[in-house]
Amino acid sequence: KKRIGILTSGGDCPGLNCVIRAVVSHATLTFNWEIVGIPYATQGLLERQTIPLNLHGWDLRGIDPLINMGGTILGSINKGDTLASAKEILASYEALGLDALIAVGGDGSLKIIHELSNLGNWNLVAIPKTIDNDVALTERSIGFDTAVNTVVDAINRLTFTAASHDRVMIVEVMGRTAGHLALHSGIAGGADVILIPEVPYTIKGLCNHLSQLRDQWRRKFAIVVVAEGATPCLEDLDNVASCSSAKCGRGQYIADQIASCSSNLIDTRVSVLGHIQRGGIPSALDRLTATVFGKTAVDLIAQEKYDQMLAWQNGQAVAVPIQDALDKSPSLVEPNSDLVQIAHSLGIYVGEN
Ligand code: F6P
Repeated sequence: KKRIGILTSGGDCPGLNCVIRAVVSHATLTFNWEIVGIPYATQGLLERQTIPLNLHGWDLRGIDPLINMGGTILGSINKGDTLASAKEILASYEALGLDALIAVGGDGSLKIIHELSNLGNWNLVAIPKTIDNDVALTERSIGFDTAVNTVVDAINRLTFTAASHDRVMIVEVMGRTAGHLALHSGIAGGADVILIPEVPYTIKGLCNHLSQLRDQWRRKFAIVVVAEGATPCLEDLDNVASCSSAKCGRGQYIADQIASCSSNLIDTRVSVLGHIQRGGIPSALDRLTATVFGKTAVDLIAQEKYDQMLAWQNGQAVAVPIQDALDKSPSLVEPNSDLVQIAHSLGIYVGEN
C-alpha cells in the first residue's frame, strides 16, 4: 500500500481542490492507497505536517465541497527561501514515509520543487496550474479558463457603464510576463484594444485607434484591456518622464496617456481586477482538466513513471519530462500566433505600430 503526498504551491487558482478530489478518489477507490495533504507546500514539508485526506471526511450532508470550491484547502505559499532549507525538506520526504509526491504548481514553484526532487531523488509527478497560462508544453493549465471567464464577466459589466457615459474603460489584468490572459479575455470580451508584453505598442498607435473608433466608426466608448506586464515602445518613454519601467504598462499610466493625447477630451476610468481573477468557483473546463490531470497523476505513480508533468496536448492528458517543460517556461504569446492575427483582423489594436 502506497502513501502519497500532495501539495499545492505558488499562487492559488480555481480548480486546485478538484485535483485533490480526483487524486484522493482514484487513489483510494482504485488502489486503496493512503493520501496525505502537505499544507503550505515546502513550508509544510519542512515542518513535517500532513493532513489526512479521504473520501468521506466532510460533515456536509454528504456534499463534496471540493468540486466547486476555489482556492486550495491545503494552503499555498508564493515565496520562500526554500533551497536554503533544502537538507531539512529532503529529509522530511523520508521521515513522512512518502512513496511519491504530487506537486500542483506554476513554473516558478515547480522549478523549486523539481530542484529539490533532483537533490533528493523524490518520486515526483507535477501538475501545471496558473491563471497566467505560461507553463510550456501544455495547452491548458488549471485556473486559466476560470480567470478568462472572470475577466470576460468584468468586461461585460464595464461595457454597459462605458457606453452609458461615453468613456474609455481601461481594464488591467494579471498574467505576470505573459499576455495570454489579456489576449484571450480581450478577444472573448469584445475589447477594442489589447496591450500585452509580447507585442510592442505605441501611445500614438493607441490614441490613433481610439480617434478612429470615435470619428470613423461612431463609437463613443471603448474597452482597453492591458496586461500587467505590458510596456509601450521605448521611444514613447522618452517623452514620459514620470514613467518608471515597472509602472509603464499599467492601467493608470495608459489612462494618463489617453487623457494627455486627447487633450483631456476622453474621459477614462481604470479597473484593476487584481486578485478577483484568482478567486471564484472553477469553470467546468478547469474542473475537467483538473480531474483528468489528478486521475492521470495517480496512474503515473502506479506505473512508477516519475519526474513527469501532466500536459494537455491534442485533446488529452500526456506526460512530459518536468525538466523539458520548465526549460521552455514561461511560455509567452507568440506575436505571430493565430490569436494575435485574429485580433488584428477584427480591428482590435494589439500594437506593432
Ligand atoms: O502567477 C499568478 C499571479 O496571479 C500573476 O498573474 C500575478 O502577477 C501574481 O501571481 C500575483 O502574485 P501575489 O498573489 O503574490 O500578489
